[in-house]
Amino acid sequence: MTTIESILTQEDFSREDLITLLEADETDRQFIYNRAAAVKKEFVGNKVYFRGLVEFSNRCVKNCFYCGVRAGNTSIQRYELTDREVTEAARFAFENRFASIVIQSGERSSKKFALRIEKLLHKIHQATDNELHITLSMGEQPEDTYKRWYEAGAHRYLLRIEVSNPDLYKKLHPDNITHDYHRRLEALRMLKRLGYQVGTGVMIGLPFQTTADLADDLLFFKEMDIDMAGMGPYIEHHDTPLYQYRHLLLPRIERFNLSLKMVALLRIMMKNINIAATTAMQTIDPQGREKAIMVGSNVLMPNLTPVKYRENYLLYQDKPCINEEAAECQGCLEARIHMAGAEIGYSEWGDSKHFAERKSEGE
Ligand code: 5AD
Ligand code: SF4
Ligand code: FES
Repeated sequence: MTTIESILTQEDFSREDLITLLEADETDRQFIYNRAAAVKKEFVGNKVYFRGLVEFSNRCVKNCFYCGVRAGNTSIQRYELTDREVTEAARFAFENRFASIVIQSGERSSKKFALRIEKLLHKIHQATDNELHITLSMGEQPEDTYKRWYEAGAHRYLLRIEVSNPDLYKKLHPDNITHDYHRRLEALRMLKRLGYQVGTGVMIGLPFQTTADLADDLLFFKEMDIDMAGMGPYIEHHDTPLYQYRHLLLPRIERFNLSLKMVALLRIMMKNINIAATTAMQTIDPQGREKAIMVGSNVLMPNLTPVKYRENYLLYQDKPCINEEAAECQGCLEARIHMAGAEIGYSEWGDSKHFAERKSEGE
């Protein structure tokens, strides 16, 4: 038995184990993928759930050093969808039996923005017979805003920690209170307290990031007892401060391989959570999402943003499906998912099994 195979027989992994696993070479990593595929089959089954992605607005108050829509980038046009555009995307999701949508936006914290979203949530539920599950991904907000949105019918929230190492976090963000690591952590805890299904995630292959950091990220997810995860490779963007460090990056394919290992290892560690196959994975490898599905992912987010806005929501370069209308992507995706040997959980909310378990234990 190789070292990798023997670590994989353990119930739990230490930080050192995870570092060894993350460094596994091409032959050894097959053992990780096989184990992850088996865990996936046993604990979450063969289904992939769709979450229609609506990129609501690229206006953002923040200035994360890695992100193409950061406030400081003056070379993009800022947009915000109308209520009608959002409800139409929601209806498309509903009619195509997606069962669930994610509304994502740059971060804004004005009262006006909070109220707009609250009203929009009611409108979406009205337009879709209260059948659609809504996930929000709108950054850090005051507790009262999270509470109002929950009461207006948003029951899942995605807030990536981005990197779990506070020192690395500091290197990737401006040094001020709006970009404070501990505030972000507190926001995640708040969301959980309020009853949301909570998703978080990290970027993989960032400048200054080590394998030990990634091992800590996996341990962080476990410690936070998260319900959902979305992770993907970091992809450089030329209009961002971090671009100057591109010479420090691993080749893209290595960043992809590392991301795939992170997905597989997380599936082995947290057997019944939902894990997304992210667009950033597809950006590097055209079959990236299918590969992620084969080693652990069970959620996919087809883009429902009206095509005319998409070129302005480029968090990173080379984002795929920029010109495909929702219906075109859907046909393409279906074929891809079948190729990966999975099936689509149409009309099912596909809630994280982990969340259901967490709830029943708490009662
Ligand atoms: N490469 C990959 N992912 C990125 N994100 C932002 N910028 C990049 C980038 N350059 C991710 C962040 C954020 C999510 C919406 O997009 O993790 O949380
Ligand atoms: Fe804004 Fe999110 Fe980009 Fe940071 S990562 S600049 S919060 S959109
Ligand atoms: Fe968008 Fe294939 S998934 S075109």
